[in-house]
Amino acid sequence: MLIKKPVDVRESEVTPQSWYVRRREFLQVAGSTAVAVAAGAAGPLFSGTSTVLAQNPAAQKLENLRKSALSTDEKLNSYRDVTTYNNFYEFGLDKGDPARYAGSLKPRPWSVVVEGQCGKPGNYNIEDIMKWFPLEERIYRMRCVEAWSMVIPWVGFPLADFVKRFEPTSKAKFVKFTTLVDTKQMPGQTEPALPWPYVEGLRMDEAMHPLTIMAVGLYGEVLPNQNGAPIRLVVPWKYGFKGIKSIVRVSFEESQPMNTWQRMRADEYGFYANVNPAVDHPRWSQASERRIGEFFKRRTLPFNGYADQVASLYAGMDLRRYY
Ligand code: MTE
Repeated sequence: MLIKKPVDVRESEVTPQSWYVRRREFLQVAGSTAVAVAAGAAGPLFSGTSTVLAQNPAAQKLENLRKSALSTDEKLNSYRDVTTYNNFYEFGLDKGDPARYAGSLKPRPWSVVVEGQCGKPGNYNIEDIMKWFPLEERIYRMRCVEAWSMVIPWVGFPLADFVKRFEPTSKAKFVKFTTLVDTKQMPGQTEPALPWPYVEGLRMDEAMHPLTIMAVGLYGEVLPNQNGAPIRLVVPWKYGFKGIKSIVRVSFEESQPMNTWQRMRADEYGFYANVNPAVDHPRWSQASERRIGEFFKRRTLPFNGYADQVASLYAGMDLRRYY
C-alpha cells in the first residue's frame, strides 16, 4: 500500500499462493478427497446461506444468518480471492503474507475493551459480543485505496447496535478502534512498517450508519485470521484501510482520533477516506479499479456506489480537503 504503485493485478497473483494456514487442517482430512476438493479446489460458488458449503473444514459455521436487504447482488469474489489476497501488515507487506503467516494469531480467547465517553465501559468477551447481536450476511463491494476491489459476503452486525449498547455520552463525537499488539502472535510488528498498534476512527454519525458493520465472519464461517479474526470493522463506502482488523479496543472520544495511515503519510491518506474517483491519490488515479479476478478495469463510483445512502453525511464538506 505504501511502497508499490498499484499495477494491474496479474492472474498469477490471485491464484492460490497458499493454503499454508490451513495445511494442517487439510492434512487431517486428506483421506477425504471430497472435503479437500470442496474446500481447496476452484472455490465453490456461494449459493446462499442455507446451502453454505464448507470453505475450511475446520472453521466454525455461523448458522441462521439473516439476509440483509443492504447487500449488493453483484457476483461474489471466490473464497480463495478473499482469503489469499490481503492487506494485514502485522503479518507482512506481501498480499500473500497474511494467509501464509496469520496462523500464529489466536482469536480465542479474545476480549474487547470498551472505554471513554460511555456509560458502560468494560472488558467484553467475544463470545458474549457475538451472542448479543443477531448475525446477518452482508454482501458488500469493497474498494482498496490501491485501486482493486472485491465483493465479499461478510457476516456481522451493525456497529450502531454495538455502540448503543455501551451508552455513549453526548461528549462522544468519534469512535476509535485499536488492533492487538503482540509480536508473538503478529510477527510483522517486530518491523517498523507501521506505527503499531494499527488505529482507525469514525465520526459518530458514520459509526451509526446502517451500512457500517462489525464483521465476525465471511462466507458463512467465522472470520479467517488473515481477514481480521475475530472481529473487524467494515465500512463499504470508504477505502479498505478504514476496515481495521483484529480489534481489541473501542473508545468513545471527544476529538478526532489520528488514524494509522494518516499518521504514516498525511499527504496521501486522510481521516475520511471516502471512495472518490474525482480525487486522485498523489501517486495514481482513483478513477478506475480492477475487480480481482476480472481482466478489464471498471469505473470507480463515488462513495464506492453507496452515494445514495451516505452522501448526505458529508453535505457541505469539501471532500478534496477532507479526504
Ligand atoms: N487492519 C490492520 N490491523 N492492519 C492492516 O494492515 N490493512 C487495511 C485493512 N485493515 C490493515 C487492516 C487495508 S489497507 C485493507 S485494503 C483491508 O484491511 C484489507 O482487508 P481484507 O484483507 O480482509 O480484504
